[in-house]
Amino acid sequence: MPTGRLRGPFRIYLLFVILECCWKLGYGQLSYSVSEEVNPGTSVGNLARDLNLNVLDLEARTFQIVSGPKRKYFDINLKTGSLYVTERIDREELCAKAEKCVVNVEAVVNSPLKLYRLAINIIDINDNAPYFSETLQSLNIAESTAPGGKFGFVGASDLDVGKNSVSTYKLSRNDYFSLEIHKGEDSVSAELVLLKALDREQQPAIKLTVTAVDGGNPPKSGTANIIVSILDINDNSPVFSSSLYKTRISENVSVENVSTGTTVANLNATDADEGLNSEIEYSLRKKGQDRVLDLFEIDPKTGALLVKGNIDYEENPAFEIHAQASDKGQPPMSAHCKVLVEVVDLNDNAPEITVTSLQSKVKEDAQVGTAIALVSVVDKDRGENGKVKALIVNETPFKLETNYKNSYSLVVNEPLNRETHAEYNITIVANDGGSPSLSSTNTVNIQVSDVNDNPPRFSEPLINIFVTENSPVGTVIKSVSAIDADIDNNGKVSYSLLQTSTDRLSSSKLVNINSETGDIISLQSFNFEELKTFQFKVQATDSGVPPLSMKTLPVCVHMGT
Ligand SMILES: *[C@@H]1O[C@H](CO)[C@@H](O)[C@H](O)[C@H]1NC(C)=O
Ligand SMILES: *[C@@H]1O[C@H](CO)[C@@H](O)[C@H](O)[C@H]1NC(C)=O
Repeated sequence: MPTGRLRGPFRIYLLFVILECCWKLGYGQLSYSVSEEVNPGTSVGNLARDLNLNVLDLEARTFQIVSGPKRKYFDINLKTGSLYVTERIDREELCAKAEKCVVNVEAVVNSPLKLYRLAINIIDINDNAPYFSETLQSLNIAESTAPGGKFGFVGASDLDVGKNSVSTYKLSRNDYFSLEIHKGEDSVSAELVLLKALDREQQPAIKLTVTAVDGGNPPKSGTANIIVSILDINDNSPVFSSSLYKTRISENVSVENVSTGTTVANLNATDADEGLNSEIEYSLRKKGQDRVLDLFEIDPKTGALLVKGNIDYEENPAFEIHAQASDKGQPPMSAHCKVLVEVVDLNDNAPEITVTSLQSKVKEDAQVGTAIALVSVVDKDRGENGKVKALIVNETPFKLETNYKNSYSLVVNEPLNRETHAEYNITIVANDGGSPSLSSTNTVNIQVSDVNDNPPRFSEPLINIFVTENSPVGTVIKSVSAIDADIDNNGKVSYSLLQTSTDRLSSSKLVNINSETGDIISLQSFNFEELKTFQFKVQATDSGVPPLSMKTLPVCVHMGT
């Protein structure tokens, strides 16, 4: 082995040259160092002197470098014996990340033939900057992440080695993250550390710039951007645009448009979250508002509050509706609101007339002012729509007297007379103050009861009777009749005979009268020679209490032959 044979003679020489020359005899070979990227021609060392060869002999002995098939980086100046660089040396190309980069070459000299092995150490210079293979990185972090949480990213590389490689990282100024740098034996890595709680609703994404710096002199650096996307969690409830909505609806407008669904109010809630966490579904509270659920519904998507039933002011002048908005997060969050719906009254109710009779019949002699019935009028509407006025619209001897608001007495206003009017149909009309006004009518039937205020009256006031003599006893010589305008017993007439003062004979012996029929019957067979004429009176009496009676003028009976 050539190097083995060299070891002895060089041992002493080493002591003299070690300080002035940068070569070393190790493992039987010469060793030099040169920086990469030096200019061609740069001297690595004086090989002739180090090998103790005479410079003048070099050419004659064909001193040369043999590099095999590989690229030739070095050559020898045969005039000076110096080993110099012939072409650009890129350490990274030669050795990549190897910590030590050594180029082995051999030098040969003839006469006698000798072979020397040379190890040339290529020294790294900081000719490469750190670089990120991913210059735009994205990171998803849930907004619920607690401060202190750590997040890795793809680090930087540097083709250089040792201190020329990545030595630290820096982070752009921001409110949320800091860097934690881990220095290993021969590598440096870094992680993002969350400093404070995230809020997607405030800032949905954070842009960071990471700079990797190497330890060269001067240092080189490379950057990458990291976009941190904050992932939503359902940490926001929906919020109604108002906690209380107030609206008015007209009672029968809604009735007309039930099929199309009249919109009463548009509720609007928003949710600061995103996705399902912000998707809102509206509903009406299920409990404690049965009537509301019958009459109203809400569009779960749009929040439009719709009428679905008949709204009647008289039943419900106002509604308090409880609605809620829920998001679709897991678990969902919800918000509540109240809708006050005022129902506007329309004149949809006619007045109602109620009549309470005080007496079933009114006596015809009833005093003016006598109350016969109570009349009350009600209207379910409000305000002018519910203001009512009642009056009698036909001609009758009665009137309405106001007792108090909407209450009247039906009283006798003029003297009555059953004989001319035994019955009245009193038409009472009530009008409300709406526009147009609604009215209703009620007919009160009043029966006038009889009082014995009429005596019987004879149809013939003056009666003359002619009787032929010797007519048989028991002959009906006349029939009288009286009529009584009253009815029943007050009008039931009975007849009787009355003696007149001028009567010489007792007419009761001559004639009789049938008290029921008024037939005057002879009691004797009259003789013209004895009695030419006589007279009496007939009285008609009714059965009233007290009875009334009427007498005829004298009835004259004349005998004839
Ligand atoms: C609901 O309210 C939000 C915020 O106030 C507004 O942007 C949106 O247009 C409203 N939606 C409707 C349907 O009124
Ligand atoms: C009153 O009304 C009743 C029932 O409609 C009718 O039979 C009667 O003849 C009427 N009386 C008068 C006096 O109009």
